[in-house]
Amino acid sequence: MLPALDAHAPGVDATAETIPPTEARLQEIVFPDHANHLGTLFGGQALAWMDKAAFIAASRYARKTVVTARSEQVDFRLPIRQGQLVEVVARIVEVGRSSMQVEVELIAEDLLQGERELCTRGRFTMIALDGRGRPVQVPPLTPAVA
Ligand SMILES: CC(C)(COP(=O)(O)OP(=O)(O)OC[C@H]1O[C@@H](n2cnc3c(N)ncnc32)[C@H](O)[C@@H]1OP(=O)(O)O)[C@@H](O)C(=O)NCCC(=O)NCCS
Repeated sequence: MLPALDAHAPGVDATAETIPPTEARLQEIVFPDHANHLGTLFGGQALAWMDKAAFIAASRYARKTVVTARSEQVDFRLPIRQGQLVEVVARIVEVGRSSMQVEVELIAEDLLQGERELCTRGRFTMIALDGRGRPVQVPPLTPAVA
């Protein structure tokens, strides 16, 4: 197991201990078993990747067990083709007491040309739970430092 970071060591961001991370990124390739009969990314697979990224972002932010309470307003704007790279970006944009609102984007990248397009966007509500499975308070959201 890696030792915990010493926040006072040279090169270590001292704020890392106090400001929780708000973003998670996943990268996937659309293989044939992720595609539908049209050869593009299956919507259910896209939702699974989005939920996974939202789960990672919320878990790292809260450092608690989290569950998905809601997914809403998922807009599939453009199809993603088999063979493309998909970057899934999840950001905590709002927090309540135990809830975290996570905006998730799917960006498709053509590996040969490097072109990137925002294809899908959605919002997930994740809830932090205590050891008994009850909703528990999460840290307040600190405004991003420019
Ligand atoms: C999500 C869950 C823990 C909420 O439990 P609950 O007893 O209803 O919790 P509460 O009424 O005390 O609400 C807790 C928080 O969840 C939010 N919440 C509850 N249900 C919600 C819903 N359907 N959509 C959005 N937010 C919801 C509340 O607004 C509240 O937010 P706040 O603490 O920031 O004010 C419970 O409904 C559950 O376990 N659902 C199943 C989760 C699951 O299996 N997900 C799929 C796999 S991860």
